[in-house]
Amino acid sequence: MKEVFKISTGEEIYLRYIKRSDLNAVWRNFNEVVEEDIYPVFFPVETQFEKESWYDSLKREKNICIIADNLDLKVPFNVVGQCEISNIEWDASKHVGSLGVIVQKNYRDMGIGKRLIDMAIRESQKLNNKEKIILSCFTNNERAIHLYKELGFKEVGIRKAQFKIEGRYYDELLMELLIEDYLKGQ
Ligand SMILES: CC(C)(COP(=O)(O)OP(=O)(O)OC[C@H]1O[C@@H](n2cnc3c(N)ncnc32)[C@H](O)[C@@H]1OP(=O)(O)O)[C@@H](O)C(=O)NCCC(=O)NCCS
Repeated sequence: MKEVFKISTGEEIYLRYIKRSDLNAVWRNFNEVVEEDIYPVFFPVETQFEKESWYDSLKREKNICIIADNLDLKVPFNVVGQCEISNIEWDASKHVGSLGVIVQKNYRDMGIGKRLIDMAIRESQKLNNKEKIILSCFTNNERAIHLYKELGFKEVGIRKAQFKIEGRYYDELLMELLIEDYLKGQ
């Protein structure tokens, strides 16, 4: 599935499946978020080995990864966002996907996150028979929570002090969405 849309700057964004040649750009976006203290990861991913291993496992596990390709930018600056829906390891949770999403700082609040998540949800239902999507984020990640609620995700709980970064504790908000409900609401 592919989709093209224009953002407010007039730039054209092309949503498509990730390719191996997108790896450096995708991890560049991830490493940018690591520095923002809103992700429970301390160290950037730098080595080609780690990047390639992630891609190999994505393909092996048949996880979904949709990227937002800015057609007006050159590689490796073209990937302005990404959304992954991965399988859960339990046999009895094959119908559930776990979602993660990142949009580059200077491309936020332009609707890219919403479009990425929408396509990833639809593809995960079509290709991986997913029925339910789960995710989590820091309770202070207001933009992400706003977006998730707008898409219909419901809060199902908070894990208090689940993360500790430089001596400070952060709570984790757990959310979920039934794809059937999501599609009805569209
Ligand atoms: C969360 C994230 C993916 C959203 O992507 P995005 O492209 O900015 O999302 P959208 O533009 O589709 O939607 C953002 C919404 O949040 C709203 N918003 C922005 N800042 C906000 C704030 N401080 N409080 C509440 N809402 C806010 C925007 O107005 C917009 O809502 P609208 O469509 O009703 O106007 C992006 O901010 C990101 O990559 N953040 C860092 C990584 C991250 O937090 N990932 C998810 C958590 S694990």
